[in-house]
Amino acid sequence: MPSIRVTCYHKHMLIVANWKAYVEDLPKAKRLLAVSKDLAGKVACTIVLAPPAPLLGALAAGNRSAVAFAAQDVSVTTGGAATGEITAQAYASVGASYAIAGHSERRAAGDTDTLVSEKLARALAHDLTPILCVGEREHDDGGRYLSFVREELTVALTSLPPKHRTKVIVAYEPIWAIGKTSASAMKPIDLTEMVLYIRKVLAELLPGKSSKHSLVLYGGSVEPENAHDLATRTGVDGFLIGHASVDSHMFASLVKQLV
Ligand code: PGA
Repeated sequence: MPSIRVTCYHKHMLIVANWKAYVEDLPKAKRLLAVSKDLAGKVACTIVLAPPAPLLGALAAGNRSAVAFAAQDVSVTTGGAATGEITAQAYASVGASYAIAGHSERRAAGDTDTLVSEKLARALAHDLTPILCVGEREHDDGGRYLSFVREELTVALTSLPPKHRTKVIVAYEPIWAIGKTSASAMKPIDLTEMVLYIRKVLAELLPGKSSKHSLVLYGGSVEPENAHDLATRTGVDGFLIGHASVDSHMFASLVKQLV
C-alpha cells in the first residue's frame, strides 16, 4: 500500500534537531537517524540533524534519505595549522548542508557577534545554509531584550554582502527558555510578537523585499506538549530542538504534532 504523506500544519516546517553533546555513541546516533528517516518519509517537514562532528561524518556517509545534516558550529579558520578546529569545508565534504552559528552555548564559550558573523561567512563560502541563533538572556519588562536581539542580528548580518544575508535562517532562542520543560518555554503570544519583531529587523537589513522569504525558527524547550501551539499560533517557520530531539519517542511525537 502506498504510504500517505501528510503536510506539516499550514506550511512546510523546518525541524532542526540539535543533538548538542547528548549523543556520544554511534549506535544511539543510528537509532535516532532511523527514526528521522521514517518521519521524513511520512511528513512533509524538512528534518535536519545536527550531531556531534564525528557522528555527523559517520551518519551522512552514504545517506540517501531526505534527512539533511547541520554542523553544530563551524570554525572561522580556513584550514591550516589550527589543531582541533573543524572548518566549514570539512563539514561540507562529509555531507552537511546547514551550519548553526551563534548558539548561546557557543556564545557562553566566547563567541562574540563579530565572530558569529565570520562563521556565517565561512559557512556560506562552502554552500552551507547558516542558521544564526539569537536570543536574550532575560525577557525584561523594560523591553531591552528587543534591542539586544536587534544588535545580534545587525552585527551578524551587516558584514555579509546583501545577497548572502538572504540565505541566513534565523533561530530565535531566548536563553532563559532553553533546556527546561514545555511549561517554561516561551508562550505563543510572546513568540508571535518576537517573530514579527525579527521580521521587521530583517526587512531593514536585507535587500529589497527579500526578507519576506527569510525563515525564522524558534528554539527553547519545544516538546510534544507545546509544539502544536507554537507552530500554529506564532508565524514561525520551524524549530530548533534540543533535548526533545535525542529521545526517539519524544521526537517522533513532537514532529507528529506538526501535521
Ligand atoms: P532545548 O534546546 O530544546 O533543550 O531547550 C534548544 C537549543 O538549545 O537549541
